[in-house]
Amino acid sequence: MSRHLLSAGDLSSDEAIAILDAAKQMHAIQTREVKKLPPLRGRTIVNLFFEDSTRTRSSFEIAGKWLSADVINVSAKGSSMSKGESLRDTVLTVAALGVDALVVRHNASGAVQRIAGWVSCPVINAGDGTHEHPTQALLDAYSLRERLGDLTDRHVVIVGDITHSRVARSNVLLLTTLGARVTLVAPPTLLPAGVGAWECATSWDLDAVLTGKAAGDVDAVMMLRVQRERMGGGLPGGARDPGGVFVPTEREYAIGYGLSPARLDLLAEHAPILHPGPMNRGLEISSVAADSARSMVLDQVQAGVAVRMAVLYRMLAGVDAPALAEASA
Ligand code: ASP
Ligand code: CP
Repeated sequence: MSRHLLSAGDLSSDEAIAILDAAKQMHAIQTREVKKLPPLRGRTIVNLFFEDSTRTRSSFEIAGKWLSADVINVSAKGSSMSKGESLRDTVLTVAALGVDALVVRHNASGAVQRIAGWVSCPVINAGDGTHEHPTQALLDAYSLRERLGDLTDRHVVIVGDITHSRVARSNVLLLTTLGARVTLVAPPTLLPAGVGAWECATSWDLDAVLTGKAAGDVDAVMMLRVQRERMGGGLPGGARDPGGVFVPTEREYAIGYGLSPARLDLLAEHAPILHPGPMNRGLEISSVAADSARSMVLDQVQAGVAVRMAVLYRMLAGVDAPALAEASA
């Protein structure tokens, strides 16, 4: 594993599987009464978030704390950036405090890579703009493997706002590394330019894909949020217009691409539903689907802690660190 984790594409199949296997051990800890393990005692991890988060920030914090690291949260809101301090000065200041790893989220694609070039400690990308979210892809793969086993030749359908989704990009990279097939489904306006070069199929017709007419049997469906906050950008309607110019109305989007109860019935018995969260209920996913027995939404959240523990453990204790059972003995 390289020093930083910036892209899901940086992981070989062996490295990804090693993380997922380590996460399996970590997951067992979540059910224990006492959840603390000693391996990262004395280490300091800073969550540096320039964009909002519920799941990622809190799960990195819990993951670090369960491994006995000291975890500090620094967010742009409330930092001295409001006094005009630059991104570089902010990052160098935080790093100078004596940090062993930085977990960074930023709303600009490529910003986390830039930051990794400025500091000497490992940097983990917790989501950069519309680019990547590698630990989300790892927790998605973990969840899928829990339900489906080995992902070789499994067909995962990812539906929604692909254009603005760092989750989609990281998932295509990691799922294909793990041998799965991916089909991206979206209206043409929400498929990014250049998607033809990605290692996946694409479709504008969700029903054809779900019934297997367009791309064969479906083993899992991942719904993505319509990212209203990334649709402003000076376009007509602005950030407060839910559809911007990408989809005519929310209603049309829900009819064409939402996971309605009727579409839920099209899925094979074994196929789980995923959503990275936060969800727009009634838009990309109905409550019936989100709360159904095949929904993995909360399993994904749980897996997020285990996967992030595994990533922190391997990055800070080293890939050759003893298995967790030995490390915690
Ligand atoms: N929470 C995920 C992300 O930060 C997905 C989303 O926001 O829709 O990329
Ligand atoms: N899935 C995800 O990254 O959620 P948050 O934006 O709440 O961290």
